Amino acid sequence: MNKDQLADIAKKMVTPGKGILAADESTGTIKKRFDGINLESTEESRRDWREMLFRADDAMSEYISGVILYDETLRQKAKDGAPLAEVISATGAVPGIKVDMGAKDMAGFKGEKITEGLDGLRDRLNEYYELGARFAKWRAVIEIDSDARPHQAVIQANCHALARYAALCQEANIVPIVEPEVLMDGDHTIERCHAVTGRVLRRLYEELFMARVFLEGTVLKPNMVVPGAKCADQASASEVAERTVNTLKRTVPAAVPGIAFLSGGQSDEQATAHLDAMNRIGGLPWKLTFSYGRALQAAPLKAWNGSNVEAGQAAFRHRAKMNGLASLGQWEKGFERAA
Ligand code: 13P
Repeated sequence: MNKDQLADIAKKMVTPGKGILAADESTGTIKKRFDGINLESTEESRRDWREMLFRADDAMSEYISGVILYDETLRQKAKDGAPLAEVISATGAVPGIKVDMGAKDMAGFKGEKITEGLDGLRDRLNEYYELGARFAKWRAVIEIDSDARPHQAVIQANCHALARYAALCQEANIVPIVEPEVLMDGDHTIERCHAVTGRVLRRLYEELFMARVFLEGTVLKPNMVVPGAKCADQASASEVAERTVNTLKRTVPAAVPGIAFLSGGQSDEQATAHLDAMNRIGGLPWKLTFSYGRALQAAPLKAWNGSNVEAGQAAFRHRAKMNGLASLGQWEKGFERAA
């Protein structure tokens, strides 16, 4: 393990003013996104869509520190024959790779999930390094309700898998993004999400410690503390920011260089406003930025609509800029209207 290299890459991933583009949708998920614009999902259409984003040079070089890819994309070439990973590196962003094999039903815990993909991971990581990936992502999915979910056994199994994944990544000189996502589906309150997120993160850092993971060479990708999407009581941006920062302060060691949030189904503007409100709190030991999938890509996908590169890149540039400003606590609602 080269600790200096890991720490340098992790730091680069959370460069102030920049964040991560999560473009690692599996083939099934990207098909659902393309269905929304009536576009057939083929190897070529997936390549064209992603190449359009990666070639938005000014957006990439100013606001994007890293891109999470799916296996297919890391092996794909752009129209002109250049590997897509090289197109990304040329903008200054770091190419990364999703390495988990998805969240499956956990035996004995109906409706709760355990993420698979540890078997053979060591070999896959070595290959991904050769292909240019310098960081990886593994997502644990934590189902939540107002009652018994998540069960502690589910939290423990998922955090243990995250720790084993992180240790294997570092052995291969790949920075692990550790992503324990408490879902926002359901009608639970923000208080419930606050308590559950704290439980998950506390367990996660115990497991990472036991697995001897080098925290300076990691990035955390958590959910924000928000009420369930169907909860009657929705929260203000300042409440989301205060509760999220409160939970992180209680659980995430200061040795972690940065925290890059997932958007998880929040609207584009909500995801930006929440990140901005957190960064306005100030005085935090870690950088707080974005690692958004939907909140960065929904608007560009609609604007691109299968072929309009210029409109797609403009929409991507706008969202990337808004989130870049939010990572500095310098976003204002008025900037959205000006677009
Ligand atoms: P969303 O921002 O759409 O939640 O996606 C981020 C991600 O990478 C989830 O694993």
